[in-house]
Amino acid sequence: MLQSVAVTTSSLPPGPRPFSAEEHATWGDVVRTQRPRRSQQLVPMFEAGLRALDMDHETIPSLAAVNARLAPLTGWQGVFVKGLEDARGFYTLLAEKTFPIGHFVRDREDLDYTPEPDIVHDLYGHVPFYADRTYAEYCEAYGRLARRYFTEPERLRRLERYFWFTLEFGLVETPVGRRVFGAGIASSVGECVYALSGEPEVLPFDVERICAQEFRIDQMQKRLFVLPSVEALYASFDELKRVVAR
Ligand SMILES: [Fe+2]
Repeated sequence: MLQSVAVTTSSLPPGPRPFSAEEHATWGDVVRTQRPRRSQQLVPMFEAGLRALDMDHETIPSLAAVNARLAPLTGWQGVFVKGLEDARGFYTLLAEKTFPIGHFVRDREDLDYTPEPDIVHDLYGHVPFYADRTYAEYCEAYGRLARRYFTEPERLRRLERYFWFTLEFGLVETPVGRRVFGAGIASSVGECVYALSGEPEVLPFDVERICAQEFRIDQMQKRLFVLPSVEALYASFDELKRVVAR
């Protein structure tokens, strides 16, 4: 997750420690809970990505195996990183078709929500989307756009807000109903329920408003935006560029 401005750049040394049985079990809890709910909660491209990458299992998959399936689909790869890093590192990786993955697992009591981007968030929540060519190309372009603004904090902040309310916490209308689009929600058992419960305020997709909308990273999102379609996000890129450049 891009946590306000926080992801990591520095890769782990070769051969990070193996995950423990407890960590695999926590991952398994998420997959087992979410599997029967996905068709009702998630945008279909998420499930399609999980299947394309052979990730729908109850133990943490090997990143090498995921990357071996991901590369021929879109040219993207996941890379383990040490901890939180800033927007520069995150967007630089995106521009290089690389997604950073925290090499740790949330506590088992934090299945509903974790403010820290762990492997459940980064690998289970984000990476399946990168099996989709259009999504992957959009994110690469997003990283390239953000790189232009590394020395312009307010413009970079607009891009962070937009990323947050679309790719991390967006909802989307689909022919079968409203679904979760954002990886930050997708990786949270509790927030998948909450986001679609009618409790949070859900506003129509609006580039300018999203670019000005502050957010908190330490709680479930009380205000969300809903895309009319996934394609509408991609189609908004030129408008985003204009709003950010102002
Ligand atoms: Fe994220």
